[in-house]
Amino acid sequence: MERLNVLDHPLIRSKLTRMRDARTDNETFRRLLSELTALMVYEITRDYPLRKVEVETPLERTTGEILSTSVVLVPILRAGTGMLSTVLDLIPTAKVGHIGLYRDPKTLRPVEYYCKLPPDLKEAEIILVDPMLATGGSAIAATDIIKREGGRKIRFLCLVAAPEGVKAYSTTHPDVPIYTAALDRRLNEDGYILPGLGDAGDRIFGT
Ligand code: PRP
Ligand code: URA
Repeated sequence: MERLNVLDHPLIRSKLTRMRDARTDNETFRRLLSELTALMVYEITRDYPLRKVEVETPLERTTGEILSTSVVLVPILRAGTGMLSTVLDLIPTAKVGHIGLYRDPKTLRPVEYYCKLPPDLKEAEIILVDPMLATGGSAIAATDIIKREGGRKIRFLCLVAAPEGVKAYSTTHPDVPIYTAALDRRLNEDGYILPGLGDAGDRIFGT
């Protein structure tokens, strides 16, 4: 069963439309990515557990709440790092793991070149981030690695997903919900998402 959630709030839709526009420059693309990430993270953390704490306001003592779970963010290098600082601004206590993968342009299979994850993944709420879910190979490989290292409570956050990637990911990792701003039409023969937004890494970093 697909655990696909399309977060199609009007603000998310309009920012994504500007990101898709080929005329949007790198600086604006990065800013929109950051704003979109904030809106999406706000939604996907809605059910995170809280614990009560006592706090002294300028007027009196009261009971407040803070997150009671540890959070681990895992961007898939490179493009996922474009979403990292925003999530860290919102959840400053989060730990960060990095998984380096690139897609072989011929086979479209992910090639791993870096992995460093924090310890104690077992109880953590893990957010795997990458703007693009195309064939699904990169997200599947990253999730394999996280699970191998003990991660269990994983959510995958992307911006644009292709039906092919959603199917492949959901088949391999049916327990992991996917959150995306858009479910696009299909992949082209080079494995790019249509209509998509082009190469996310190139548009973030200006390469
Ligand atoms: C892009 C994107 C994903 C991957 C998606 O990365 O950021 O990681 O492709 O494609 P898939 O679902 O078919 O695996 P890319 O390999 O271009 O590397 P980059 O982030 O370094 O640009
Ligand atoms: N990776 C990207 O950056 N864009 C796509 O459309 C597919 C994979």
